[in-house]
Amino acid sequence: MNPLNHVAIIMDGNGRWGLKYKNSRNAGHKAGLNTVEKIIKETLKKKIKFLTLYAFSTENWKRPKKEINYLFNLLENFLLNRIEELNKQNIKLKIIGVKSFSSKLNNLLRKSEKKTSKNKRLQINLALNYGSKFEIINAFKNLNKNKEKISEKNLNKYLLTRNTPDPDLLIRTGDTKRLSNFLLWQLAYSEIFFEKKLWPEFNEKDYSKIINKFKKIKRNFGNI
Ligand code: FPP
Repeated sequence: MNPLNHVAIIMDGNGRWGLKYKNSRNAGHKAGLNTVEKIIKETLKKKIKFLTLYAFSTENWKRPKKEINYLFNLLENFLLNRIEELNKQNIKLKIIGVKSFSSKLNNLLRKSEKKTSKNKRLQINLALNYGSKFEIINAFKNLNKNKEKISEKNLNKYLLTRNTPDPDLLIRTGDTKRLSNFLLWQLAYSEIFFEKKLWPEFNEKDYSKIINKFKKIKRNFGNI
C-alpha cells in the first residue's frame, strides 16, 4: 500500500455544472465550495497531511469581472466564516500564489495564514493567482540573485511549495485531461487521476475510490 502524504486537486467543472443545473456559472462556484468542505473533512479523516487546491490561476483573470468578483467574495466569506473552525481543527492554511488582490482580501489572507501557522494536523495550500511557469522562473531568478548552484534541492527552496513534499496524487475533475499550469515541477512523479464528474458533484465516495486505487499502484519512480 502506497503512503499518501499529499493530494493536489484541480477543481474543474463549476461553471458547466452551474449552467446546466442553475443557469448560472456562479451558482456552480457556490456549489463547488460545498465540495471543498466535504473533501477537507475526508482528508482529515484519512489523516493525509497536505492538500493543495487550485482555486484561481494566473490565467483565470481573463474571465468576466462579474465572475472574478463572485469568486473572491466567496473566498472572503469562506475565510471570515470558517477560519476559526479550521484553526480549531488544527489546520494550517497556506496561500500559494501572488497576493495581489484588494488590500482587504490581501490582509484577510495574511491574517488567516498567520492565525493557523502553527497548526500541524493538515496543511491546506490554496493556490490563488497561481501559475507554475511563473513560480519556476521566479525560483531560478532567486538562485541567480543569491549566486546559488542550480540544483533540485536549491530550486525547491524557492518554490511556493517549499517545505511541502511533492504531491503523491493529483486529481482533476471535470472530464478534462490537462495540467493547466499547475505544479508542473512538483508533479514529476505524481499519480494522476482524471475524473469525469464535475467538481460540484464530486463527493467523499469518489475521493475515497480514487485514493484506494492510488494505494494499490506500483510506484516505480524510474526503477523497475
Ligand atoms: C474551475 O471550474 C474552478 C475555479 C476556477 C474556481 C474554483 C473555486 C471553487 C471550487 C469554489 C471556491 C473555493 C474556495 C476555497 C473559496 P471552471 O469554472 O473552470 O469550470 P468550467 O470548466 O466548467 O467552466
